[in-house]
Amino acid sequence: MNSLLAPYRAAVPVAFESSWESPANIAFVKYWGKKGHQLPANPSVSMTLKECKTSTKTKFSLSNNLTVELKLDGQKNERFAQKIKSYLEGLQTELPWISNLSVEIETANTFPHGTGIASSASGLSAFVLTFVDYLKHLNPEGDHALFLKRASYLSRLASGSACRSIYGGFVAWGDSAQVETSDLYASPVDVHADLASLQDTVLVVSGKEKNVSSRAGHGLMGDHPFALSRFAQANANFSQCISALKSGDIEALGKILETEALSLHAMMLTSSTPYILLKPNTLAAIDAIWDFRRETKLPLYFTLDAGPNLHLIYPEEFKSKIFTFITHELSALSEQIIDDKVGTGPRKC
Ligand code: DP6
Repeated sequence: MNSLLAPYRAAVPVAFESSWESPANIAFVKYWGKKGHQLPANPSVSMTLKECKTSTKTKFSLSNNLTVELKLDGQKNERFAQKIKSYLEGLQTELPWISNLSVEIETANTFPHGTGIASSASGLSAFVLTFVDYLKHLNPEGDHALFLKRASYLSRLASGSACRSIYGGFVAWGDSAQVETSDLYASPVDVHADLASLQDTVLVVSGKEKNVSSRAGHGLMGDHPFALSRFAQANANFSQCISALKSGDIEALGKILETEALSLHAMMLTSSTPYILLKPNTLAAIDAIWDFRRETKLPLYFTLDAGPNLHLIYPEEFKSKIFTFITHELSALSEQIIDDKVGTGPRKC
């Protein structure tokens, strides 16, 4: 029995309602490949966003067997309902009373639909926060720090990257020698004041849903010919990324951001079932960013999720020049631009 869930094993379920808002995050060092049960093959570190977030209201009531209904933006969504149901079924060995719950979820993303922003981190962490709030209602033991640790642990089981969305600012997940981190849940990382208001302008090159899920991509790392070198590279990048975040070295940070983005996609290109998520406009934008950096010497860097969209990362003090470049030179390559930045983390509504 996991000690984070032990206080709730013998809980007696009652009716309860909870609403939480939780943000998306963008990984600077990528989680790509798993071991054991939803554990990362290497440590990762991310920046929590401010504007891209999910709001979720969950009603828990009593029932003879577990049922889950979910509405996304007012529309019934069977696929997401099934995902949450399977997740809750997975927790039943430790929390047997889950089989007596009826769960009704209403959820909405603040970022526009079809923008290709990974919504699983914000969506699943928002649901899990309502569930952990329910646990707290059943047994109010423990302080807020423990509440967040439990939420991060339970979010990880729903989707790895979701465990990092529980904290604001910069967040690490995965065992490492350099900072106090764990494979089981994420922890916040202190950074230099110069990076405390880092910007993330998202260039939505394509809002279409991708045809290979991240879950399948993680699976392909199992027999990947370059898996061991990739995990070694990610470990080295993690430790350099933490140092750059602490010292405020934006140049060193930018180099890691771009290497990580390109390595992630290189893994997809070279897996046993190869696939390509980058689009011609992704590459055109990367070229334009490199030209801009060479010409202006301004610290504008990119990173990518498992998709074609670019996250453009830069310090706030250069915002006016860089944002002008993005809107003038890069908007023709994108369907939409989302102006985001580092955020303070989830909030109970
Ligand atoms: C490329 O967290 O979506 O965004 O644990 O299977 O749900 P599951 O995977 P997920 O993978 C995220 C991959 C990534 C990198 C990252 O966020 O670290």
